[in-house]
Amino acid sequence: MPAQKVYVTRKFADSGIQALKSAGYTVKVYANDAVISRKDLLTNVAGCSALLSLLTDKIDEAVLKAAGPQLKIVANYAVGFDNIDLAAAKKMNIVVTNTPSDAVNEAVAEHTFALLIALARRIPEADIFSKSKKYTGWSPTHFIGTDLYGKTLGIIGAGRIGGALARRAVHGFGMKLVYTDARKNDIFEKEYTAEQVSLQKLCEISDFISLHVPLLPSTRHLISTAEFASMKKTAFLINTARGPVIDEKALLRALKTKRIAGAGLDVFECEPAIDCDITDNLELKTFPNVILTPHIASATIEAREAMSMMAAQNIIAVLSGKPALNPAG
Ligand code: GLV
Ligand code: GLV
Repeated sequence: MPAQKVYVTRKFADSGIQALKSAGYTVKVYANDAVISRKDLLTNVAGCSALLSLLTDKIDEAVLKAAGPQLKIVANYAVGFDNIDLAAAKKMNIVVTNTPSDAVNEAVAEHTFALLIALARRIPEADIFSKSKKYTGWSPTHFIGTDLYGKTLGIIGAGRIGGALARRAVHGFGMKLVYTDARKNDIFEKEYTAEQVSLQKLCEISDFISLHVPLLPSTRHLISTAEFASMKKTAFLINTARGPVIDEKALLRALKTKRIAGAGLDVFECEPAIDCDITDNLELKTFPNVILTPHIASATIEAREAMSMMAAQNIIAVLSGKPALNPAG
């Protein structure tokens, strides 16, 4: 019997590829270091038993069909899996997995915290100022920021990444915590004395608001005009989840009218575009109190190695007839 084929849509951390090769599979990796085109994706998946996809690949019914009936698993190299049509995969008995490893959760929480501190202490603005030779002497009023200590952090989505953020905020920085989630989170309540509140209450009382929910029909534009209207004028909003969870137009209006104090964004509604459409010269990148990073919250050596191995292990499990280790959904 010829070796089963694993198709990988883009070169990534090598350990997973090596693990797949050692397990005896034929591994084919997309030749270009770029997001695979739709045309190449539909052609190249033909005949594969496992597809290792990235969050930038739209895996819908057409792709699953193009692979052929031997396709057993789509292993997404990401925590989020909104790029995959789960219903179509289920109908075709194809397993979908993701990579919610501890290393990824910690990396994303660290990046979220980096945005939090950078916003509170205006690090990027101060960096630009210092490098542009404007610093001529200490001033009592220069770059006044805000403390994190004693402030309230509102976490929307008390899952694994929200939990890693909560631990840092409460144990590391002495912040107070409130959260929203469909379920009560005992660790949040007992270890962090966090209160579960409604979204509206969270918006009203939080000094920092951080999003840690998957992108679902129910979370699209979760933060929109009404939510911004109930936030403190001193509040900062941080998004390291998925762009469309925030209604970007409403965010731009909130920034323009100083409804909130600033935002830290690692993901964007119309990604890879930073701005969906530029009207009234309103662009995210024109606000000094907005910090932008290009979807890099899990971009650490440790996290990417863990994601690589986790995706490979899911493929090896499923192709050898075992249950998936990290089924998505
Ligand atoms: C990154 O955004 C991920 O979902 O892993
Ligand atoms: C700041 O540098 C201070 O000494 O207060």
